[in-house]
Amino acid sequence: MAHSILEVKDLHKSFGGNQVLSGVNFVVEEGELSSIIGPNGAGKTTLFNLITGLHVPTRGAVYFQGKNIAGCQPYEVVRRGIAKAFQITSIFPRLSVLENVTVAIVSQQKRNANLVTPVAKLKEVHAQARLLLESVGLADKADQQSGTLAHGNQKRLDIALALALKPKLLMLDEPTAGMSPEERRATVELVQRLWEQLKISMLFIEHDMDIVFGISQKVRVLCYGTLIAEGPPAEISKNKKVIEVYLGEEL
Ligand SMILES: Nc1ncnc2c1ncn2[C@@H]1O[C@H](COP(=O)(O)OP(=O)(O)OP(=O)(O)O)[C@@H](O)[C@H]1O
Ligand SMILES: [Mg+2]
Repeated sequence: MAHSILEVKDLHKSFGGNQVLSGVNFVVEEGELSSIIGPNGAGKTTLFNLITGLHVPTRGAVYFQGKNIAGCQPYEVVRRGIAKAFQITSIFPRLSVLENVTVAIVSQQKRNANLVTPVAKLKEVHAQARLLLESVGLADKADQQSGTLAHGNQKRLDIALALALKPKLLMLDEPTAGMSPEERRATVELVQRLWEQLKISMLFIEHDMDIVFGISQKVRVLCYGTLIAEGPPAEISKNKKVIEVYLGEEL
């Protein structure tokens, strides 16, 4: 029987007088690869920010493995096992690709990378970092300065940094935004392969419907701050309401 890993309950968020989310409810099962879609300004990123601790909900709860994490600091949320990728700002542009991943692994292990860190331990961390780089297809870029990576590869590095935190749930906000069709295809393949290999839960926001319907087990549709539909891709793509408010012109 599937267990839920994340449960969003009656989530509300307003910024001043602007009600952005109004009573959002859903459950993510353990090991699920699912998506959130909806028009611009629907509140998708805000929902992610509430789950990852960047914002505090006005009302409602976010249960992760049974514990309410709403209002927790982002570092606590990460420690509990939720990581978010595609915040390119999390990359240190002047450090090499390998150094970036090393820093992430060391921080996950709550160890300071200073002079007292035994060389043997650092060797072990470097080996882990190289494995991670291999898994995202960046092994040959290990020594390159991160800031000079192509857009698609910066996003791969961002995934590696998120994975270094050993998440149980990986959240991806528009993983293919700004990519060429070729980079898009490669990124989707990567995300799907990592999901199959790591057997973690993944929740992603995406505007490309080929991707959404191609890889999601479940699709949730957010519109003006409320969840208007939820179900398998075949059901959602035929849902009248969803076609009317979002898919209409795209399919
Ligand atoms: N920090 C903030 N302060 C004030 N308003 C905000 C803040 N963050 C988001 N909003 C507002 O919340 C609404 C939803 O924004 P959000 O970024 O969550 O939408 P989205 O569904 O991710 O859109 P997109 O598809 O364009 O990324 C918008 O009207 C936005 O202006
Ligand atoms: Mg957004």
